[in-house]
Amino acid sequence: MKKKVIVAIDGPSSSGKSTIAKLVAKHFNFTYVDSGSIYRAITYIAIKNNLIKTGDIDVVSLIDLLNNCSISFSFNSDNQNIIKLDGVSVENEIRTFEISNNVSLIAEKNEIRKYVLKIQKDISNNKSVVMDGRDIGSVVFPNADFKFFLDASIDVRASRRWNELKSIEKDLKFKEVKKDLLKRDKKDVNRKYSPLIRSKDSILINSNELEISEVVDIIIDIIETEIKIK
Ligand code: CDP
Repeated sequence: MKKKVIVAIDGPSSSGKSTIAKLVAKHFNFTYVDSGSIYRAITYIAIKNNLIKTGDIDVVSLIDLLNNCSISFSFNSDNQNIIKLDGVSVENEIRTFEISNNVSLIAEKNEIRKYVLKIQKDISNNKSVVMDGRDIGSVVFPNADFKFFLDASIDVRASRRWNELKSIEKDLKFKEVKKDLLKRDKKDVNRKYSPLIRSKDSILINSNELEISEVVDIIIDIIETEIKIK
C-alpha cells in the first residue's frame, strides 16, 4: 500500500458519516478525524465566552481567543480522536443540542474555516486518515485518494439523531431535532465559504435502506479493490 492514504467522507448531518468513518478507519488502521468536532469545540468556546448574540458572532474576539488557546486531538487505542481544549477533553460538552443549534453560525465564517483548515492539514501531515465533514473532498483534500458522499432522507437522519440524543436530553422532541437538521442543512448548503456540495468525483451512497455495516463494507470493498489494482 502507498505510504499515505486520505479518505474523505462528506455528507449532511446525521447521514452516518462519523460512525462509518470510524469503522473504516479501524479496518485499515488509519487515523479517524471528526472535523465537525473542531467546529463544535469552537462553538463551545464562543458560547462559554458569550460571543454569540442575537444570531451573530463576535468573530474578532473569537479569533483572538482561539489564538490564545489550544485545540488538539489525542488518539485512543482505536486510533479515534478525542478533542481537547487546552489539554482537557471536551468530547461530551460539544455533543449537546445547544452546540448543534449554533455550530452552523460558526462554520459559515471564513476566518474560522481558515483556522480549522490549518488544524486539518497539520493532523493529516504524515499519516493515513479518514476524515469526515462537509468540505473534505471539495476544499480540504480535493486530491483525496477516496471521496465518499453519504446521504439519507431527512426523516431517517432526524430519527437517528433523536435516538442518539434522547438518552441525554430527555425532553427533546423529534420535531425539534428535525427542525434543527433542516436549518443546519440549509445553512451548510447555502453558505458562501466551503458549502456542503457533492464533488463530482465522489461516490454517492444513500443509506436509507442500508445498515451501518453494509455501508462500511461497500466503502472497504471500494478502497481494497483500488489499492490492489495500484
Ligand atoms: O454530527 P453532525 O453531522 O450533526 O455534525 P458535525 O459533523 O459534528 O458538524 C457540525 C457542523 O459543523 C455542521 O453542521 C457544519 O456546519 C460544520 N462543519 C463544516 O462546516 N465543515 C466540516 N468539514 C465539518 C463540519
